[in-house]
Amino acid sequence: MRVLIIGASGFIGRYVSHRLVNAAGHTVFSSCNSRPPVDDGASWHPLEITDAAALDALFTVARPDAVVHLAAMADVGTAERNPETAAAVNATATEAIASLCERDGSRLVFMSTEYVFDGQNGPYRENDPPAPTTQYGRTKFDAEQAVASLASNWSILRTSIVYGWPAPARRNFVPMLVERLREGEPHHAPTNVYRSPVYVAHLVDGIVRLVEADDIGIHHVAGSDWVTMYEFAVKVAQKFGLDPDLVIPLTDPTDDRLGLDCTRTMADLGLPHPGLDDGLAAMRAAAPGR
Ligand SMILES: NC(=O)c1ccc[n+]([C@@H]2O[C@H](COP(=O)([O-])OP(=O)(O)OC[C@H]3O[C@@H](n4cnc5c(N)ncnc54)[C@H](OP(=O)(O)O)[C@@H]3O)[C@@H](O)[C@H]2O)c1
Repeated sequence: MRVLIIGASGFIGRYVSHRLVNAAGHTVFSSCNSRPPVDDGASWHPLEITDAAALDALFTVARPDAVVHLAAMADVGTAERNPETAAAVNATATEAIASLCERDGSRLVFMSTEYVFDGQNGPYRENDPPAPTTQYGRTKFDAEQAVASLASNWSILRTSIVYGWPAPARRNFVPMLVERLREGEPHHAPTNVYRSPVYVAHLVDGIVRLVEADDIGIHHVAGSDWVTMYEFAVKVAQKFGLDPDLVIPLTDPTDDRLGLDCTRTMADLGLPHPGLDDGLAAMRAAAPGR
């Protein structure tokens, strides 16, 4: 299968590109923007997704059977501060990608987020009504609607907070927390902010399954534990052999109950549904330099 990964240079994209390159039977085309290509055996192409002509040209070169679209302004605060760019990158460019997939008969797997929900009543199921409250969430929901209306063969995959080893000089919550606790510094974590953390390699299992199976619709792929960020941080301390007492509980000004119920998707895709114990153990085992 010819697979085009848009946003392959990002945190999740690097793992998707590496996995598909090493899976039998795929020819992989990967896009990057500000970051240089990775030497993983994919064919790498610089791409600015708001450039419609450049997108068209990449589709012409790749002739993809399937497209995994991960490129986004993925930081909630950055999207809030740059609402127009967030809309152009997250929503308008996704419309263009969905239209190209429809034109070329390509399957589209679009990466979305729990932020399409309002955080009042998680964990959310696949058919719960979205009601985004942030610019990031609104632009991703606009993108979801474009995917579902413009493409014929599409999957939307929503996830929650993703943890794992990032590229050198990049950041991820778990490695940052581990470093902090190792230095004996306290970490304050809210007891009223809920997520369903997922280890990046487990998320990639779901992404790859959706590339290979024509399972049209909305899917939730996240960890099986719905926890507060305080519980998450304590679990990280325990699993990495660090002092959990350095994690200090605090109450956020507003309750935030995001997180995803993935029961239906995991059954539909026939995938195991690992939680924090398995995810953090797998992450430790994959530590760079081990
Ligand atoms: N990480 C999470 O916890 C999480 C949770 C829920 C959903 N998601 C979703 O998962 C996807 C990937 O997230 P991530 O954490 O891997 O994000 P990331 O590390 O910030 O990577 C974003 C990717 O998008 C590319 N990109 C950004 N703006 C672009 C533009 N204007 N033109 C072309 N490419 C552009 C980046 O390219 P360069 O880096 O080369 O510039 C990079 O490859 C996003 O759609 C995000 O909404 C992530």
